[in-house]
Amino acid sequence: MERNGTRPDQGPILVTGATGGVGSVAVNVLAQQGYTVAASTGKADQHDYLRQLGASQILSREDVSLTGERLRPLLKGTWAGAVDTVGGATLSYLLRTADYGGNIALCGLVGGHDFAGTVIPFLLRGINLLGIDSVACPMAYRQTIWQRLATDLKPSHLDQIAQVITLRDLPGAIAAILQGQIKGRLLVAPQA
Ligand SMILES: NC(=O)c1ccc[n+]([C@@H]2O[C@H](COP(=O)([O-])OP(=O)(O)OC[C@H]3O[C@@H](n4cnc5c(N)ncnc54)[C@H](OP(=O)(O)O)[C@@H]3O)[C@@H](O)[C@H]2O)c1
Repeated sequence: MERNGTRPDQGPILVTGATGGVGSVAVNVLAQQGYTVAASTGKADQHDYLRQLGASQILSREDVSLTGERLRPLLKGTWAGAVDTVGGATLSYLLRTADYGGNIALCGLVGGHDFAGTVIPFLLRGINLLGIDSVACPMAYRQTIWQRLATDLKPSHLDQIAQVITLRDLPGAIAAILQGQIKGRLLVAPQA
């Protein structure tokens, strides 16, 4: 998004699936870089957590999902950018509400891999849909990002985002993940 020109003074950035591992880090990093961050979440009991990470506006999953009759080609231009971990109906929403020149970093699909869109936001608002891949990402670029994540982009609230568990904790943790009860990132310490 930075390479594509996103700057804090252009307007708010929406992070979707915000209490997840990717979302939590994105909220924290963007906020400490001076962005106004909005966070969408399905967890009504985690609004305080997201505000602690730096979100100043919280939306529900439903607020940012579009299907059926609500799929007009354009809605009010609201977001200077987005980090989308959800995809599906949420990406359908983002394509219509990204503001002029907005950059949507699409990295996830927890809400589905299909989305509904038209060429209109690209042609009339010059929006950009940026594909994110951390698997085959070239090593040189990866090292640049890691270096920044260890310095100017280092999340200030990692201790709140990450929780260390042991192998013995895994069955319960996996069940909790599947029930949508985990926030942030679980780190498995094999030797603990
Ligand atoms: N492209 C890449 O290189 C890359 C790298 C890492 C991860 N990913 C992808 O990014 C996504 C997020 O990864 P993660 O590690 O952050 O996962 P995660 O920790 O499991 O978080 C996912 C979050 O998505 C939200 N969510 C869950 N089910 C949902 C649903 N049915 N509809 C809408 N939102 C839902 C929840 O947040 P709320 O409760 O706050 O809504 C959940 O905490 C995954 O699809 C993963 O595969 C891609």
